[in-house]
Amino acid sequence: MYRTNTCGELRLLNVDQEVVLSGWVQKVRKFGGMIFVDLRDRYGITQLVFNQEINAQLCEKAEKLGREWVIQAKGAVAERSNKNPHISTGDIEIIVSELTILNSSDTPPFTIENDTDGGDDLRMKYRYLDLRRTPVRSNLELRHQMAFATRNYLNELKFLEVETPVLIGSTPEGARDFIVPSRMNPGEFYALPQSPQLFKQLLMVSGFDRYFQIVKCYRDEDLRADRQPEFTQIDCEMSFIEQEDILTVFEGLTQYLFQTIKGINLPAFPRLSYAEAMKLYGTDKPDTRFGMTFVEIKDLTSGKNFGVFDNAEYVGAIRVPGCSYYTRKQLDELTDFVKRPQIGANGLIYVRCEVDGNLKSSVDKFYSSDNLQKWVERSGAQPGDLLLILSGQTEKTRKQLGELRLEMASRLGLRNKDLFNCLWVVDFPLLEYDEELRRYFAKHHPFTSPKLEDIPLLDANPGAVRANAYDLVINGVEVGGGSIRIHNSELQKKMFSMLGFSETQAQAQFGFLMNAFKYGAPPHGGIAFGLDRFVSIFAGLDSIRDCIAFPKNNSGRDMMINAPSTVSQEQLDELNLKIELPEK
Ligand code: AMO
Repeated sequence: MYRTNTCGELRLLNVDQEVVLSGWVQKVRKFGGMIFVDLRDRYGITQLVFNQEINAQLCEKAEKLGREWVIQAKGAVAERSNKNPHISTGDIEIIVSELTILNSSDTPPFTIENDTDGGDDLRMKYRYLDLRRTPVRSNLELRHQMAFATRNYLNELKFLEVETPVLIGSTPEGARDFIVPSRMNPGEFYALPQSPQLFKQLLMVSGFDRYFQIVKCYRDEDLRADRQPEFTQIDCEMSFIEQEDILTVFEGLTQYLFQTIKGINLPAFPRLSYAEAMKLYGTDKPDTRFGMTFVEIKDLTSGKNFGVFDNAEYVGAIRVPGCSYYTRKQLDELTDFVKRPQIGANGLIYVRCEVDGNLKSSVDKFYSSDNLQKWVERSGAQPGDLLLILSGQTEKTRKQLGELRLEMASRLGLRNKDLFNCLWVVDFPLLEYDEELRRYFAKHHPFTSPKLEDIPLLDANPGAVRANAYDLVINGVEVGGGSIRIHNSELQKKMFSMLGFSETQAQAQFGFLMNAFKYGAPPHGGIAFGLDRFVSIFAGLDSIRDCIAFPKNNSGRDMMINAPSTVSQEQLDELNLKIELPEK
C-alpha cells in the first residue's frame, strides 16, 4: 500500500497513529540533528521529521533527498511543538521510521510553491510542473466543480448531454476555421466546429427538446486574455420556448453556480437593451460594478465658437467621483491614454469641480462658469468631482469614452474582483454593416431570428432590425450569448440572401439545415456560455489561460509539446498537400 492517508488529511486527533504517506518533496530543512521534509500531494503538505539521535541511517537517507523527489514515508503522527497556522496539517508532524525513495527528480526549473520564481514562458514549457502548484491546481478544481454543478442543474431540468462531431464543415460564428485535410477525399477538408450551433439545431428538429454539451470549440482568431483558439462552451438548446424561458433557465444556472460554489445569492439580473448599453456605457458588455455612465451634453456646448464641439456629432462626459484634485500631469497622462492608436481619440477635455465650488476647465476660453455649471448639473457632478469629456462621431466616441471609463475605474480601484454584477443585454441588432466590404454581416450568427415585429423592416432598413438575441455579461465580460432561431426555411433562405450568400452557396453550405427545416422544425432557441471565462471570473483571474490545464500562448503555440509543428513530406503526400516546407 503506497499510502494510508493523504498529505492534507492528518490532524491532532490522529496523534499516535501509524501512517504511510506518499508524495513529492517540496523542501528539506536541517536543524542541528533534525531533518524536516515538507511532503506535498494534491491535498496538502505534511511535515516529516527525521531525528539523528533516533535513527542516524534514516537521517542520512533523508539528507540526500532533493526537491520534487517522489517518496513514501512510514511513521507515527505526533503533535508539533512549533505549530504552523498557515496549513491545515500545521498542528502535527510525522516521526518517520521508514523511508522509501519511489523516484528521484532533476532539479525543477522553477520553485514549485505558491509564489514561484518561474516566468510565464518557462512555466508554460513545464506546464506539468506548474500544475503541481496550489494556485494553478485550485483553478482546475474550481473548473471541475463548475462543470459538475452545471451538469447537475441541467440534468435536473431534463437536459440531455449529446456529443456532436468535431470533424465537420464550416460553422459561421465570425472567426476563421481551423481546417483538417481529408486523406480519403483528396483536395477536401473538414473544419473544426467554431461551435456546435448547427448540430444542436438539428437535434431540436429530431425532437430532443432540451440539449446541452460541455464542449470544445475552435476558432482561428487573434488571441487575447479572454480568448483561446480552443476553448470550452456550456452549449444549450431548447424547443417550444421563447426568449423569456431561456433567460429564466440560464439566469437560474448562473445563480445556482454562484450559490453552490461561492455561497453568494445574486438578485434578479437587470436587463439592458443593446441601444441603452451603447448609450450609457459605449459597449455591449458594460461593467456595472460602478457608475460613471455617460452624460450627453452636445446641446449644451453648441454655439460658443469651440469648433471641436461644434463640429462633433456627439459630446459625452463621465463624472469621475472625487478626482478634481487631478494634476496637470495626471490629466496629460489621461489625454495620452485616449490618444493611443488603440483608442484613437483626438484629445480630452476636462472640468474640475473644485471643493470650494469653483469650476476650472481646459476650455475656459470658450465657456463661462455659467455654461460649465449646466454641464455639471446635467452630469450630477458634486464639488470634488472631475468631468472628462470626449467628442466626435457618435459610435466611435462612445467606444472611446467606454475605454476611458474602464481606465478611470481601474485607477480608482472600482473593479472589485469580489463583487459580481450580472446583467442581460437584449435586443441586439440582427445585422451589422461593414463599411469596408459594403455589406451586412450577422451580428450574432445567420440562424438568429429577427423580432417578429421588425420583419417588415428587413428590406427597407435592415440595420434597424432587432434580433431575439441576448448576452449574459458579468463584470464587463461577455460570459454567454444566444438567440431564438429561425425555424422556417423560407425566412432562413431570406437571411442567407441578405448576408450575401447566393442561392447555390447557401444550398452548398447549409442545404442540410434548410432541408431539415422542411420536416417539422419546432420553434427553438439556445445559448452558450464560455466555461473558461466563467471560471476565470469566479477565480478572479486576469486571463482564461490560468484555468485551462494546457493552454496556448498568444501566438497560438503550445510551448510544452511545441505545437503547431511541421510534418513530414510523406504525410503531406498522403494528404495530397503541396506545401513548400520552410528550411529547418
Ligand atoms: P458566441 O460566439 O457568442 O455564441 O460564443 C459563446 C461564448 O463562448 C465564449 N467564447 C470564447 N471563450 C474563449 N475563447 C474564445 N475564442 C471564445 N469565443 C467565444 C464567450 C461567448 O459568450 N453558437 C453560439 C451560441 C448560441 O447562439 O447558442 C455561439 O457560439 O463566453
